[in-house]
Amino acid sequence: MLNTKIEKILNEQVEKEGYSSSLYLAMASWAEVKGMGGIAQWLYVQSDEERLHMLKLVKYINERGGKAIVPNFKKPDTDFPGVKVMFEKVLGHEQYITASINDIVALCVEEKDFTTQNWIQWFVNEQIEEERNARQILDKLALLGDGNLYLFDRDITGLRAANAAAEAGTAT
Ligand SMILES: [Fe+2]
Ligand SMILES: [Fe+2]
Repeated sequence: MLNTKIEKILNEQVEKEGYSSSLYLAMASWAEVKGMGGIAQWLYVQSDEERLHMLKLVKYINERGGKAIVPNFKKPDTDFPGVKVMFEKVLGHEQYITASINDIVALCVEEKDFTTQNWIQWFVNEQIEEERNARQILDKLALLGDGNLYLFDRDITGLRAANAAAEAGTAT
C-alpha cells in the first residue's frame, strides 16, 4: 500500500508526464505546419512515449492501492521562435523531469518505500536516454548551422532507429 506522501508525489509525476506529452504534441504540430515533417514525426513519437510514461504511473499508483488522478494539463506554447530554441526547450524540460524523478527516489528512501524506489529506477534510466536524445539533436543542429534545416529534417527520422540499433549492439 502506498503511503499518502508517495501517492501524492507520483500523482504530481502523472501531471508532469501528461504535460510533457502535450508539450511535445504542440511542438510536433508547430513543426508540421512549418513543413518540417521529419521533426514533426520525431516529436509525435516523443509525445506518445510521454503518454505511456503517464499510463505507467497511473497503473502503478492504482495497483498499489492508491488512486491515480488525471489532472488538467497546462496549455503548452503554440509558437516557437525556431527549431534550435525549441530543442533547447526540450532538453531543459527533460532536465526538469530528471530532477523531479530524483526527488521521487529521495522521498522513497526517506519513507522507506523500497518497492517504489525499485520500480522508479526504470524512469531514472529512461531519463538518461531522454537527455541524451535531446543533446544529440542539439549537437547535430550546431553542426548543420541554421541554413541546413532541410537536411536536418531529413536526418532526424533516422536518429531513433540508429539509437535503438546502437543500444541493441551494446546489450549483446
Ligand atoms: Fe517521460
Ligand atoms: Fe521525456
